[in-house]
Amino acid sequence: MIRPLPTVFDQALAAAVRAPSPHNTQPWRFVVEHEVIEVWLDRERVLTVADPHGREARLACGAAAFNLVICLRVNGFAAVVRMLPDPAEPDLVAVIRLDGNQKATAGERRLAEAVFRRHTNRRPLLDKEVPPAARTALKSAALQEGGQIEYLNVSGRYSTVASLVRQAEALQADNPVFRAEAEYWTHREPGSPDGVPKTASGPPPYGPGVVTLRASHENENLPPREYEQEPLLGVLLTRDRGPHAEVRAGMAMQRVLLTATAEGLATSFLSQPFETARTRASLDRIFAGFGQPHTLLRIGYGSPTRLTDRRPVEDVLSHRTGPDVPAS
Ligand SMILES: Cc1cc2nc3c(=O)[nH]c(=O)nc-3n(C[C@H](O)[C@H](O)[C@H](O)COP(=O)(O)O)c2cc1C
Repeated sequence: MIRPLPTVFDQALAAAVRAPSPHNTQPWRFVVEHEVIEVWLDRERVLTVADPHGREARLACGAAAFNLVICLRVNGFAAVVRMLPDPAEPDLVAVIRLDGNQKATAGERRLAEAVFRRHTNRRPLLDKEVPPAARTALKSAALQEGGQIEYLNVSGRYSTVASLVRQAEALQADNPVFRAEAEYWTHREPGSPDGVPKTASGPPPYGPGVVTLRASHENENLPPREYEQEPLLGVLLTRDRGPHAEVRAGMAMQRVLLTATAEGLATSFLSQPFETARTRASLDRIFAGFGQPHTLLRIGYGSPTRLTDRRPVEDVLSHRTGPDVPAS
């Protein structure tokens, strides 16, 4: 039996806000009107130093849109996604409209079930290879949403990209404005409705690794540990570039992350090289033959860590009251 709309929308929105976002900023708002949910970028929550153009925020909104759709699907609804933004309304990133009934597939149910378990795992990974079948599953997940995953070990770009991560991390550590923004969002108490608490961080590394997680995400209350030497790294790309491609990349990223969760894999992000102009230009050059790189994922097996909290749905939801203007 199909459940009544308000309940289904409530569930879909609860799933949407479980999406990942840079420093758990949750840069989204949702507007509901009849059988339509709009996903808006919340400019107030875009990182002004690390993400001045809202690129990472649009990835996060795309991920939230994907969670919405997958949740509607398991409740028996087909959903049409119109991906924006268009120049006239740059902050409206996606419009999701119910489109009749359709039974969910087993694969969709598996992904929907992963929505509330997926989390970023910044702890050391286990010394266990990701098998070819799981790698292929992540590649197919990206392709299904119009994205692409390139693994760095096979493409031979591993050491160059790892060195760009280290370079960007060093540049950001030297930049007081960057450090202040990261500290504002990452030094939260457990239970904070946004930002990253130390409970979601990893232990300090013993020594310098090939791949460097963000220093702002280290939990110095934990004893130092050795990190894996060469984790599997995957770059998510799209053929096109620009705001529209970023929303699409966010949807592809979320299908990849949920597929990874369903496969029992841990994932985390290495976004530092996307956030400084010089390293970002190098990334664009390195992947010029493949497409536009959007994000870099560290993938492997690990022990699950704590989920971070989210703001309540009521704080990010409004109902349309006028012809074009979302109510606040
Ligand atoms: C576009 C994007 C970039 C991110 N970059 C990083 C990063 O560089 N380092 C990191 O540890 N986490 C990164 N994250 C993960 C967020 O910090 C995380 O999603 C957020 O804190 C919510 O936690 P959760 O993913 O465990 O639900 C990124 C997330 C997104 C969507």
